[in-house]
Amino acid sequence: MTTATKSGQWVTACKVDDVSLEDVIRFDFGNRTFVVIRSAEGEFFAMDGHCSHEKIHLAGGLVDGGIIECPRHFGTFDYRTGESRKLPACVDLRTYPVRLVGDEVQLLLE
Ligand code: FES
Repeated sequence: MTTATKSGQWVTACKVDDVSLEDVIRFDFGNRTFVVIRSAEGEFFAMDGHCSHEKIHLAGGLVDGGIIECPRHFGTFDYRTGESRKLPACVDLRTYPVRLVGDEVQLLLE
């Protein structure tokens, strides 16, 4: 499901139960790819799917304590802000607003 707004469109990425606590899944929309992450507290976050170092998909990464670790060279990002936190990842990633509608996880995409 998608809902258009002035600043973009809300797009359903998955169901709440599709993502376990401290886990990540891949979401593709159009020609773009994202990760949807669920924190240990059950909050959802979304960011660009490819690591800024060598474009490896982060969906295979480890989620722990507010951080996602790239599966290739173990660079890390703060998934709440997209900030790169450990080399060799040194360029921040974009994050996206997330909302829950019933049991659906939706991202606001431009
Ligand atoms: S590809 Fe992600 S840290 Fe190198």
